[in-house]
Amino acid sequence: MDNQVLTERLNIVIVGHVDHGKSTVVGRLLADTDSLPQGKLQQIQEMCRRNSKPFEYAFLLDALKDERSQGITIDAARIFFKTAKRYYIIIDAPGHIEFLRNMVTGASHAEAALLVIDAEEGIQENSRRHGYLLSLLGIRQLVVLVNKMDLVGYSKETFDKITAEYGKFLGQTGLTGTFIPISGMQGDNIASRSDTMPWYTGKTVLETLDSFVKEPAPLHKPFRMPVQDVYKFTAAGDKRRIVAGTVDSGDVRVGDEIIFYPSGKSSIVKTLEQFNAQVPQQFEAGTAAAITLETQIYIARGQIAAKVGQPAPQVSSRLQVSLFWMGKKPLVKNKEYILKIGTARQPMVVEEILSTIDAAEMATGQSNEQVKYHNVADCILRTARAIAFDPAAAIEGTGRFVIVDEYEIRRGGRFRTALRD
Ligand code: GTP
Ligand code: MG
Repeated sequence: MDNQVLTERLNIVIVGHVDHGKSTVVGRLLADTDSLPQGKLQQIQEMCRRNSKPFEYAFLLDALKDERSQGITIDAARIFFKTAKRYYIIIDAPGHIEFLRNMVTGASHAEAALLVIDAEEGIQENSRRHGYLLSLLGIRQLVVLVNKMDLVGYSKETFDKITAEYGKFLGQTGLTGTFIPISGMQGDNIASRSDTMPWYTGKTVLETLDSFVKEPAPLHKPFRMPVQDVYKFTAAGDKRRIVAGTVDSGDVRVGDEIIFYPSGKSSIVKTLEQFNAQVPQQFEAGTAAAITLETQIYIARGQIAAKVGQPAPQVSSRLQVSLFWMGKKPLVKNKEYILKIGTARQPMVVEEILSTIDAAEMATGQSNEQVKYHNVADCILRTARAIAFDPAAAIEGTGRFVIVDEYEIRRGGRFRTALRD
């Protein structure tokens, strides 16, 4: 098994209320899967002993982060471990709200989530808020870790109570989760089953993670490439223009007839271009692409390239969206903001606030005049000119947007549908 080459990587995020044990669980996962650098565990244990400080698994993370943050290229919040099945990249962000914002904006992507609830303290505001956000972000693979079971005498009643209550809450959000009673501190039910909880016969945390499916890259979805830039060659009368961007979904090959939205201009792909490397057969989802076209059409940054014969993106200046507001100042109607989708930017106003939800309370708000900090809302946006997008449920990459207020990104969201102008 050891020599088997693992290629698959699953991105997971760990969330939960402050101090419920996220870092401890991650430290355990690292230690129990032998994913720590040689001698690291002993080194930290020894350091704690010398300072007469009780050892904490969370210290392992702090130590790793400190070492890594000295190299500027490594994101300190990303931690790797592996099982016999695959690699995992787990994001333990101290400012998890910050991370969730990155997810809303598409800067980070998780395929599965661990949500930690302290068995003794019970369900807290952020337990609900984070769960709600995971549902909004379209995460479908969730494990709820009822942690610190050692503090409640490994009580089945306590576990059942939390499972029932939080399960009911998840139901309201449309999410389902697998519940596992654990002790991050003692290592119960994380990598191996625990005899402290004989009443629990389900999977361990690692077994559950290994049972999750890797989301396939959106190769089989319609082709989408937001145009990043158009380069002109001017030397020696060369009139070629290279259209560059990142393929969000599908693929593109020579001979494909492509159409740009919202302009509606079309042409045929003449060549694929690649600097300093062999030109591939196709550019596919997740890769940077550069193409030239048969005919010279005017294309600008912000257009979305799609293929003729495949479902087209929607084009409208009235959009129904779900969004998560992170501005200290509430989002208000009829004020000008900037909407960013893919590489496009457009001035916009909120025409109507259809409903607002406090993510912690799951209470539907009465005021439809504004969206407050950390609230979720369904709104109708109106952009200055028509934009192209996809409903997020259909194509994730071109289905997300962010709103900028006074030079600061305030929130992100997902497109539902276009409305009639
Ligand atoms: P923040 O990053 O500050 O939000 O906290 P966190 O969720 O990462 O929690 P952390 O892992 O730092 O744990 C918080 C405290 O709870 C620490 O003192 C841990 O030792 C303790 N703790 C975590 N898991 C367990 C457990 O299973 N049992 C007991 N008894 N204590 C635990
Ligand atoms: Mg932590």
